[in-house]
Order: sequence, then C-alpha cells, then structure tokens
Amino acid sequence: MAIIFDESREIFRLLTANSEYQMKVDDIGVLLHNYYGRPSCDTDMSYQILSVDRGFSGNLFENRANRGRSIDVLPQEYSGCGVGDYRISSINVTAKNGSRSCDLRYKSYEIIEGKQPIAGLPSVREYDDDVSTLIITMEDQVIGLEVQLFYSVFTDKDVITRHTRFINVSDKKLQLEKAASAMLDVQFGSWDEIHFSGRHCMERQMSRNKLTQDIKVISSKRGMSSHHENPFVILCDHGATETYGDCYGMMLMYSGNHKIEIEQDQAGSTRIVAGINDENFSWCLEAGESFDTPEAIMAYTSEGLEKLSHIYHNIIRENVCDRKYMDVKRPILINNWEATYFDFTAEKIIDIASAASELGVEMMVLDDGWFGKRDDDNSGLGDWFVNEKKLNGGLSRLSEEIGKLGMKFGLWFEPEMVNEDSKLFREHPEWALVDPDRHPTMARNQLVLDMSNPKVQDYLFNCISNILDNANISYIKWDFNRSISNVFSKNLPNKKQGEVAHRFVLGTYSLLERLLDAYPGLMIEGCSGGGGRFDAGMLYYCPQIWCSDDTDAIERLEIQEGTSFGYPVSAVGSHVSASPNHQTGRSTPLYTRGVVAMSGTFGYELDVTKMSDEEKAEVKEQIATFNKYYWLIQKGDYYRLVNEEQAEIYKAWEFAAVDKSEALVNIVVKKSQANAKIKIIKLRGLEEGALYSLEDTDKVFSGAALMYGGFAINIAMGDYPSAQLHFVRQ
Ligand code: DGJ
Repeated sequence: MAIIFDESREIFRLLTANSEYQMKVDDIGVLLHNYYGRPSCDTDMSYQILSVDRGFSGNLFENRANRGRSIDVLPQEYSGCGVGDYRISSINVTAKNGSRSCDLRYKSYEIIEGKQPIAGLPSVREYDDDVSTLIITMEDQVIGLEVQLFYSVFTDKDVITRHTRFINVSDKKLQLEKAASAMLDVQFGSWDEIHFSGRHCMERQMSRNKLTQDIKVISSKRGMSSHHENPFVILCDHGATETYGDCYGMMLMYSGNHKIEIEQDQAGSTRIVAGINDENFSWCLEAGESFDTPEAIMAYTSEGLEKLSHIYHNIIRENVCDRKYMDVKRPILINNWEATYFDFTAEKIIDIASAASELGVEMMVLDDGWFGKRDDDNSGLGDWFVNEKKLNGGLSRLSEEIGKLGMKFGLWFEPEMVNEDSKLFREHPEWALVDPDRHPTMARNQLVLDMSNPKVQDYLFNCISNILDNANISYIKWDFNRSISNVFSKNLPNKKQGEVAHRFVLGTYSLLERLLDAYPGLMIEGCSGGGGRFDAGMLYYCPQIWCSDDTDAIERLEIQEGTSFGYPVSAVGSHVSASPNHQTGRSTPLYTRGVVAMSGTFGYELDVTKMSDEEKAEVKEQIATFNKYYWLIQKGDYYRLVNEEQAEIYKAWEFAAVDKSEALVNIVVKKSQANAKIKIIKLRGLEEGALYSLEDTDKVFSGAALMYGGFAINIAMGDYPSAQLHFVRQ
C-alpha cells in the first residue's frame, strides 16, 4: 500500500518506489511535515523536529506554556494565516466579520484507491497506474472553513500530485484571497532554487540561485503561464549535478496567473508554496460552496537533475498528455507562417503542400490569416469565417486538395482573442475584457475575450465546430498572442471581479475539453506567441506545444534545453525554418537545423517551393532519419550531456532506449575555433558490459567506455556544424 496511516504513531507515510513523504498530527492538531526524501525504513521522522524557543515566534494558545512549539518554526503541511506563522501563508481568507485569521487543525483523513479528477481543471490522469489518494481534512472551527489536502501517490512514477479544496461549512460568506495548491517545508539542507525564466523568443532559461534567508517569487500575472516565468521550480543541493544530489520538483498544472514562493526562514528551513497568483485573485465562497485549486506535481529524487527530468518526462508523456499520443506517430508537418505570413492564396498553400508531400511531409498547417478581414495583425480576430477572396473554394476545397496529396490538413486559430476591427467586436463589445470607463491596454492591436462568459465559449465552440464540420481538418494550432490586462467581466457582479482571471482559464479549459469530446480524432497543438503557455495544464489538452517563436536553431539549443528540465521532447514543437533565420538573421546549415528540430515533434516552416533540388534531397533524408529514430526520440530517456567548460562552444544531448539497446547522440557546435580542443562526449544510459557499434562505421565500444571514457570527436570547421551518432547494442 502506497499510503499508510500509522495510528500508534499518528504518522502518514506516502511511499513511492524511491521516496517517502511523511506527516504527523501533533498533540494540538497541527499537521506537521515530517519528511520528504529517500525511504526511511519505517522510522517516525518527527524525531528531527526539535523544540526550540525562538524569540518573537509566538505560540498557539494551547501551547502558551510550551515555547518551543511555535508554528512560526515548525515544519507544516499547509500554513494558515494571521495566527503566528510569519512565513509564507498558504491561505488568506476574510470572514464576514472582517477577521483575516485562519488556524487550520487536523480533523480527519480518508484513503481511497485511485484518483479523482478535479472538476473543471486538468489533472494528472490515472490509467493502469498504481495510484492511491490520501485526503486530509483540516478545519478552522471559528470561521467554519474546511480545507482538504489531496495527495495522490503514483508509486512507480515517484510522483505525488497535490491539490486543495476549500469548503465553507459556515452559514456566512468567506472570501478567499489566497488559495495555494501545495506547500512543502524542507527542514534542513543548503539549497539552490532553479527556475525557468525568459522572454518572448527566449523562453525557459535555467536560472540557478543559492538560497539565503529571503523570499524568492516565481510568478506570472499575465493571465497565462507566460514566456517570462514557467510554473516549475526545482530545489536542489548546492552540489547537485545532472547525476548527483537531492532534488525536489514542484510543477503547477495551470495555465493562468501563478505564483511559486520559496522562503528560507530564520532557522534555515525552506518553504515552497505554489498555486494561483493571489494578486488579482479573490474568490467568494458562499455558505456550502467549495473551491478547488489547480493540481501541483511534486517529485523527489536523490539522483540529480537528470533523474528529476526523467520523472517529469514520464508523468507528462504518460499521465498528463492523453496517453493515446504515446503510441500513435504524430505527423511531420509543414506550417506556412514563416513561408508566407499573411500573404497567401489557396494555390500558394497547395503548391507548398504539394512540394512538401513529395519530400515526405505528412500534414499541411495553414497559419494565421485565412479568416475574416485578416491581411495583417490589426483586424479580423473573432471572425472565424473563411476569407474566400484568399481561399478560393474555401477550406473544404483546400483540405480536399491537400487530402489528394495524401496529407492531413491543420488550421490555426486564436480563439480567446478579438480585434476591435472585427464583426464580432462590433456586435459584442461586451464580450471583451475591458474596464468600465477606461480605455483598454492594447497589445498586437487586439483585446482578450471574456472566456468566463459561457456565451463566449458557446460562440467559439460553434464557430470552430462549423469549420471542423465543413472541411477535413485533423489538427488545430491554438494560439494566444498577448498578455491579459483590464481583467473585468461585464458578465459578473462587482464582488466577483477577483474571480475573472481564474474563471478565464476555466473557460478556456472547458472549451478545449468540449472540442476534444466532440472531435475525438482532433489533435490540438498549443501555442502562445511560441512558448508563452508551455505548461502541464495546456499539455493535458495539447500533446505538443510550439516551443518558441524563435526558430533559429542555435537559439533553440538553449530554449529546448531549458524546456527539457521539466517537459519531454514529445511535447516540444520544433521546425526547420529558412536560413538566414527570420528572427536573428543567422545562417545555419540545413543539416544542423534538422538535428535541432528533430529534438521535438519535427516539421518545417519555410517555403519548400523555393528550395533547390539539393536542399530538397537533404530534406527527404532528414525526414527519413527522423522517421527512423521517431520512437527512440519520443520514448527514449533524454540526457543533457553538459560539459560546463565547453558549454559556450558546443551542446550535446542523447536519447537512449529505456532497454539500453541503442542511443542517438546529437552534437551542435555553437562556436567553431581554430585548433579546437577535442570534444569528449560521455554517453549515459548504456549497459556497461555490452558492446555498441557506431552505425555506418566498423567501430565498436563497450557501454562503459562510452559512458566513462567518452566518445572523442573533432568537429570544428565552418558555421554551426553538427553530427548525429547512432550507437546500437550488438
Ligand atoms: C504566433 C505564433 O507563435 C506563430 O507561429 C504564428 O502562428 C503567429 N502567432 C501568427 O499570428
């Protein structure tokens, strides 16, 4: 059993294959966090919680004579507010009488087999996994609030998912002002925090910082998870490397405003609190009502960052994304965006598709500009009706023509947006998020629709269904091209305006769910100006997300590597684009562009009709290579073969089969140098004693030689050379 309640010691033990999570109810009902780490061999880890009387750390009334037991110091499961824990609160709540205190005490527990979904929110799916769930109910009897803490233990996956439910059991209204999904107190250790920040066209850059007595906040208030701060943090030993050290991961499965706070306190303990961003959040809980938070995916390993990444890759591939995508090969696509931008006709798209189909491309995706009045990015959003002037014969003819080429057809939408210059806005200005009596803040000359309004959801569902019903479309690219501001819904009363940002996200999730239910064969690729909404929430609906609007292969090395800490390659939308690149002006060999794009879902984003015969032949080869390695790339273990000393010179990464039967190593040189040092690539994930031959050569190496000695390679000539090496066990 993965969850044990030991009555004699009053401890809860949550056991995964390689970790143990423990908590204990103390003598006055405070739920203490005992431990999270390697399995304890059935030890009550509360022996580590010592009583220390720290000045200015007060005591709950029952403990007034016991000064060593301050909730300002004790490690807890879920902190209350206003009653003496001065570290980060997990909850902020205001009672009808204005009181802002909440003192949560243990009430009861329940253990259930399996895992319940969270209504309206994406959550980690249970398939045939060994999962059980612990539900601990805490209460504040004074204000009449129950807080249920959900822990689902995925034993074999080394993952614990968490979320929190708030139930107003009083007869008066309660106002939630902060409602964290999960909290983790780690009592001891010297930690680094790692998070992934960036900007449009440079998402998810790893930032590693030593924690000091301080609070670090990773957050977004853009209405989306954002290019700027991904909702994922890692806590690791100062000395942790790819292959060594304690690491904790906390990932929020949410696509809206998020906040992950990390505090090191006066005693050197570390607290992580993760959930919806409390800025611009407020939720009215009437008597009897309840509120569920998004889910957090928590993991621990003692084996370094690489192992932590593998844990997240597995759970996302197998239990966050719809598992059907695990065993179905996804099509290699060509997207017309960087080939034509808004300037295309049906004939041009058919020409691109036709040339691409001859090379082995399997799907044509028509990007922005096919609908309404949309010749640039200033108008048309919201009018999801085909522009017959551009697309003579409409989408049904176009999809038919593309079908005749043996290709699938995909289409771009940006459902949550509207331009002022659109029929939709002229008819329904009240459907946009706009403050009363104030000009809205504009971005890309567009406004954001009020997804919290069911009428807006219905309108979008009907428009999209109408398009899907009248053409042969198997894929949607779902874009989102601005941050949200002026978060005011004309559809909700004043007292509920603090709910709009979260209701917006719920509205988007609901629309996605409805479409996928109605069109089970449809695949949706997420996108938000590239990777502005690259999170586990969107991955629940979209098995792949366009990773960045930066298609430069050399910049993508950094973006895709940062992304790889939390997310699997099978989720990373990556295409070969033109050279010189449209974002950086850099020229990169076609071969190297292919190597980088293959570490993703793979496709093309250029005008193939303009390619020379030699280039076309190379594309054909690239496609054959990608198809050959498809399952190894999608399902193999991903290794960052980082060599800190040479990181600015080259990057190397590897896909190794889980059964260790083969490995594909990719090397891209970022900086060619005269008289360069030999590059030594130390492989991982091989069988030490087995022999591996290097494909297309007569060279044979033992797994141990490749892993501990390394493979020596000398590539340094020209701009951005690269290589792929395939090792196969004999
Ligand atoms: C942003 C996306 O990331 C691009 O790929 C493209 O679809 C444009 N939007 C279209 O407006």
